[in-house]
Amino acid sequence: MKYIGVYDSGIGGLTVVKAIHKSLKNENIVFLADSKNMPYGCKSNNQIIEYSLNNMKILSEYDLKAAVIACNTSDSIAKNKITKKYNIPIIGVIDSTVKKAIKTTKNKKIGLIATSATCKSKAYEELINKYDNKIKVFTSPCPDLASLIESQNNKQNKQLLTQSLIKYIKPLVDKKIDTLILGCTHYHLLKNKIKKMYPDLMIVSSSACVVSQLKKTLKDNNLLSKSHGRNIYLTTKYSKVFNDNASKIIPNIKFKEK
Ligand code: DGL
Repeated sequence: MKYIGVYDSGIGGLTVVKAIHKSLKNENIVFLADSKNMPYGCKSNNQIIEYSLNNMKILSEYDLKAAVIACNTSDSIAKNKITKKYNIPIIGVIDSTVKKAIKTTKNKKIGLIATSATCKSKAYEELINKYDNKIKVFTSPCPDLASLIESQNNKQNKQLLTQSLIKYIKPLVDKKIDTLILGCTHYHLLKNKIKKMYPDLMIVSSSACVVSQLKKTLKDNNLLSKSHGRNIYLTTKYSKVFNDNASKIIPNIKFKEK
């Protein structure tokens, strides 16, 4: 049985897994959350590369036919290193998200919220402007957001989340953006909340965009699976809070520590 390997620093990647389940029902997925090293967004490029290569090493214990980097931070910094090392299709989240955002914007002003490392890499701006140099990209690094999403779902954290979202998104709205990229797979979990807070914005989530590219890659390489076997969920550090948060995305999910 062949698997699609998927990894992220944490539960954000599960929003990608969920989207894959929905449109590619026959595929077998092995997912790894590198909870031990989460959050990636405040780490150095060398650390992010090291974690990413280690994730691929763990996933490669399974028979992989393709891999999805379900983490914008890792995609923006480590994708080249992974592509050089592994001889299977490697699909990141950024390329398809950029294409969708370019199609979505009407006024050519796009906002990006992402981790500090993703913003610093300039991967989004460079790719957007490679395709269309008339588009203006305004970025807002969100250092605490992914960790807040992974913390306990209590009243205090909910309030902190709302305050953070205003702090990060309001300056972009002031620049008159019409499209907001959720450039971290964790932020997909806030999509409805952001939509309610800023109903005029068109939201492009990196978690939702990658599946069509994966489907095309599998099809082009004759790798589509004909029957479903099983999904495997791994984490580098198990905790109950983590598993509880994860089961809100994929019910009854059970993680094994690796
Ligand atoms: N979910 C990740 C991303 O898409 C990273 C979150 C983090 O570990 O900082 O960038």
